[in-house]
Amino acid sequence: MTRKTVRIAMNGVTGRMGYRQHLVRSILAIREQGGLDLGDGTVLWPEPVLVGRREHALKALAEQHGLDQANISTDLDAVLADETIDIYFDAQVTSAREEAIKKAIAAGKHIYTEKPTATGLDGALELARLAEAAGIKHGVVQDKLFLPGLLKLKRLIDGGFFGRILSIRGEFGYWVFEGDWQEAQRPSWNYRAEDGGGIVVDMFPHWEYVLHELFGRVKSVQALTATHIPQRWDEQGKPYDATADDAAYGIFELEGGTIAQINSSWAVRVNRDELVEFQVDGTEGSAVAGLRKCRVQHRSATPKPVWNPDIPATEVFRDQWQEVPDNAEFDNGFKAQWELFLKHIYADAPYHWDLLAGARGVQLAELGLKSAAEGSRLEVPEIAL
Ligand SMILES: NC(=O)c1ccc[n+]([C@@H]2O[C@H](COP(=O)([O-])OP(=O)(O)OC[C@H]3O[C@@H](n4cnc5c(N)ncnc54)[C@H](O)[C@@H]3O)[C@@H](O)[C@H]2O)c1
Repeated sequence: MTRKTVRIAMNGVTGRMGYRQHLVRSILAIREQGGLDLGDGTVLWPEPVLVGRREHALKALAEQHGLDQANISTDLDAVLADETIDIYFDAQVTSAREEAIKKAIAAGKHIYTEKPTATGLDGALELARLAEAAGIKHGVVQDKLFLPGLLKLKRLIDGGFFGRILSIRGEFGYWVFEGDWQEAQRPSWNYRAEDGGGIVVDMFPHWEYVLHELFGRVKSVQALTATHIPQRWDEQGKPYDATADDAAYGIFELEGGTIAQINSSWAVRVNRDELVEFQVDGTEGSAVAGLRKCRVQHRSATPKPVWNPDIPATEVFRDQWQEVPDNAEFDNGFKAQWELFLKHIYADAPYHWDLLAGARGVQLAELGLKSAAEGSRLEVPEIAL
């Protein structure tokens, strides 16, 4: 086996996603398993170079994880000029992303990035075009596709379980504390539109690829948004005005005729089995998929409830569903996607979750917000490079 070291500049690793999912659960986890076997006698050995604004935070991270202190930097330009670095990864706040990725493309790095790729469709498309013109490889995080629950749902679709798929109902959300008497569990920029926040910008990119890959491209969108909690308290305990939407009620019409309706909210208390759940109803059967679990009810086992409010419910409806078995081992979704992206670069494996796919997510968020502002239903035109 030959070991090939791949140096990856990781920007934004002090953040929630950058640290937990990308550094610890993906790149360091790949190192812990001994690298990534490319299947041709080569093992890739990812070497993260931590990039950020606060040197002491980067130093502390490197120390905590036994990484070389030489592999930290607060100077993005210098990192991008370093020819030993192949890949630029971005998990910064959304508003800082576009400019950094542009520089990285200009420096000839391969790009891997969190979503949304930019703050508007024009910017997102420009990144995709620049990346193509530069001939580099590019990928955008689409982690929900790799969730065990959704992988099982995909398996059901591929196996023809549903017959004709009629509709999808998605419920996403949980209560995000305001930050006064209990600390908020999400960063405050998420609640300020001027800082790239808002649940539409955050979640519609996910809904775009989930719907598109599993059920069909989104043809139209109609959204109603709200800022249910107008005041919150930031990381310093200071009150601020929440200027961004914290809930979005969306209806999506898909190619092929399926209708999806997804509620996304940071102002809802969970009365579900998981933080996100999708119910899919088809002529032959239905399923409810969450992050990890998936339950089904086949046509042949569908009960016949009769509407009668005068008597208590006689059936426990939740018990009438059957658990879909794992039948596989599911790795962390972020890590699974990183591995596919690395194989795309170094073993020429196919990969379609690229900056153009990322731009579709930005487009849906932009049109979702527009639809909410206008009170209209909007067509989602197909985009191309
Ligand atoms: N794939 C997913 O499921 C998922 C989930 C949550 C967030 N995200 C995306 O990941 C990105 C980071 O989100 P997060 O929740 O980790 O945020 P976070 O606030 O925890 O982290 C942000 C990171 O960006 C850095 N940063 C750079 N410029 C900054 C600036 N001007 N102000 C503040 N921080 C700055 C911070 O130092 C930090 O490392 C966002 O683009 C978000 O949309 C993706």
